[in-house]
Formats: sequence, structure tokens, C-alpha cells
Amino acid sequence: MTAPSPTGGPGFYARRLARPGAVLAPMAGYSDAPMRQLAAEQGALWTVSEMISSRGLVLGGDSEKLTLGRPYPGEAGRVVQLFGAEPDILAAAVARAEAWFAPAALDLNMGCPVPKVRGRGGACLLQTPEVAYELVRAMRQATTLDVSAKIRLGWDSDRSVEVAQGLAAAGAALITVHGRTSAQRYTGEADWEAIARVAASVPVPVVGSGDVKSAAQARARRGSGVAAVMVGRGAVGNPWLFRALATGDDAAPGAHERARTALRHARLHVAFYGRDRFGLLSVRPLRKVLPQYLPDHPELREALVQVDTLEDVARALAPLLPGERLPGEPPEQAVPGFPLACPEHEEQVAAAAP
Ligand SMILES: Cc1cc2nc3c(=O)[nH]c(=O)nc-3n(C[C@H](O)[C@H](O)[C@H](O)COP(=O)(O)O)c2cc1C
Repeated sequence: MTAPSPTGGPGFYARRLARPGAVLAPMAGYSDAPMRQLAAEQGALWTVSEMISSRGLVLGGDSEKLTLGRPYPGEAGRVVQLFGAEPDILAAAVARAEAWFAPAALDLNMGCPVPKVRGRGGACLLQTPEVAYELVRAMRQATTLDVSAKIRLGWDSDRSVEVAQGLAAAGAALITVHGRTSAQRYTGEADWEAIARVAASVPVPVVGSGDVKSAAQARARRGSGVAAVMVGRGAVGNPWLFRALATGDDAAPGAHERARTALRHARLHVAFYGRDRFGLLSVRPLRKVLPQYLPDHPELREALVQVDTLEDVARALAPLLPGERLPGEPPEQAVPGFPLACPEHEEQVAAAAP
């Protein structure tokens, strides 16, 4: 069993909101342990896991090793997001997530436009908000940790104020609002005036989400009365956005630091996921991520979108990292013949890296 996070516990959100900074959004396929680690190191207020099926946790074959929920070594300040539609299953999933994944708080997904499991979870809950209120009450009874919910404005029209008020009355400690309806998916622009209306009408902190790509935009959005701004797509390949918002220092890192961080992201990836079902230390899922660290180096893109291994990543980034030791090369003081550069060593180095 994983020990509860020392930085979690009741009042987690209030404590974190006392600091400056922004929140890393839950993003299926992106906000995994390596991305969360890089965001947390740069000062994200907190991070949110990819959504996890409550049914999978309780009734399926999911285990403590589930990579969607498993924290990286030493992870703190990470919220676990659950989706589902049945109060008893959600309550059991909260208990299981707490025992297995050391969350700082639990969040209910009310924004996913695709119902992935039987039942009517995700954004479907916006059509039946009274079910969502019941889910929040059940989740609260299952834990002493903060329980929050993340909504869209509505299913196909804006009923966010009504829904947010109901969620707050049901005991949600915080509400995140993505300023689009479910029908909009990701089209159009997030409606920050609607988010501001929610922030002004509920007694709990509201976090705003949608289309924040820069520190300047995030600061402007704070003016809408939200307690914090959440950043999703804009943080892919740019964890320094969190540093800017935590410290006020907008200095952008140069290509060398960005390339080093991209390589480190790949190292963290293999350290966290280990070998895939083919026995490979694959970095394929990072093909969509790595080019985003270096949008100003389009000449590297072709190589970065074809990487299979850590070595491929290092080779692709080598033009920006002269003199950098490639994975697989022995460190400078290596005793000849001593196998320091074995994959396990790489994993330990990556896990221990600051
Ligand atoms: C690829 C992708 C996956 C997402 N997965 C989730 C999710 O698992 N849970 C959730 O509540 N929102 C999810 N979202 C929505 C984001 O958290 C966020 O609200 C939305 O992308 C708007 O913010 P952005 O413009 O900063 O990305 C996802 C968005 C994207 C693009």
C-alpha cells in the first residue's frame, strides 16, 4: 500500500491556492507521471492525473501498478481524477485510489465528452447534475481528502452556474470549469466570461481552464475572478510556463535547456514505464510531445516524430546538445568494461534526477 501524501489531506486546495502559480490540467495521454514531475519541479500549484475509470479500479483488473494512477517516486501534490456514474463504485474507487496512489485530493470528471464506460459519466453528468451531486456526496463520505469536480459549461448550452452551485452544496471543495460545452469539444474559444460568472456565484474556489498558452494570458485570465488558472495543451513541451507563473520570471529557456529537458522527459518515461509488452524501453508515446519542446527547430521534427528508443531521442537532439553523454555511452570516469550504462542504471539515474 502507498502511504498517503504528506502534502495532501483536508484543506489541500486552500493551502496550495495561497501560493502563486498555475495548475497542470488532467489530459489523457499526456499528464502522466513524467509530465507531472516536470511541471511540479517548475512550480505547478498541483497536477491532475489522467482520468481513471472508477469501474476499472473497483471491478476490473486494475491494480496498484496501474500506470495511470501510480505516482512517481516522491510525488506530492497530485490530484487523482476519477470518472464514473455510480455512487457506490465511486466511493469504493476513492478508497482504492487513496490506498494505492497517494493522491493529495480526488477529482470527479464531468467534462469528458466521450462516455467511455457503461453508465453515463464524464460530461454526460452535465445533463443529469443531480447524479453528480450524489457522486460528490458519496466520494466525500469515502475520504477525508478534499473532493473536487471538473466540469464543462454544460452539455450543449451553458448551465454551469446552476451545476457549480449544486456541486458546492454537495461538498465539492473546488470546481474547475473548462469554458466550453461538451458539444463544442475543442472547437471555438473557451468562454472566460462564463467561467467568471461561475467564480462569482459559488462559495468555493473556481479554477478556470481553456486556451491558456502563455504566462501573460494566464495573468490576464486571473482577472476574471478565478482562484487559479489551469493549463493543459499549452504546457505540453513547456513546463517553464509554471515557473513563470510561480516566480514572476518569464525568462524563456534557450534551445539547449529545452533539448535537455526533452531528453530528460524521455529518460523519465523509460524509468516510469519500463519495458513494454515487446520487452522494449519504448518512448513512442512521446512522438507527439518531443517536437513541442522545440517548435523553433522544425529541422528536428522529422526525427523526433519517429523515435522508438531513448537512443533515438538523444541522436535526434544531438545537434542541440554538443558534448552531452548519450544514453548507452559510459560516463566519463567509467571503469572500462564495467557495465554502468545498463538500462537499469539509466532508470535509477532518471528516477533520482532532481
Ligand atoms: C488530449 C486531451 C486529453 C484530456 N483529458 C482530460 C481528462 O482526462 N480529464 C479532464 O477533466 N479533462 C481532460 N482534458 C481537458 C483539459 O483538462 C482542459 O480542460 C482542456 O484541454 C482545455 O484546456 P487547454 O486549452 O489549456 O488545453 C483533455 C484535453 C486534451 C486536449
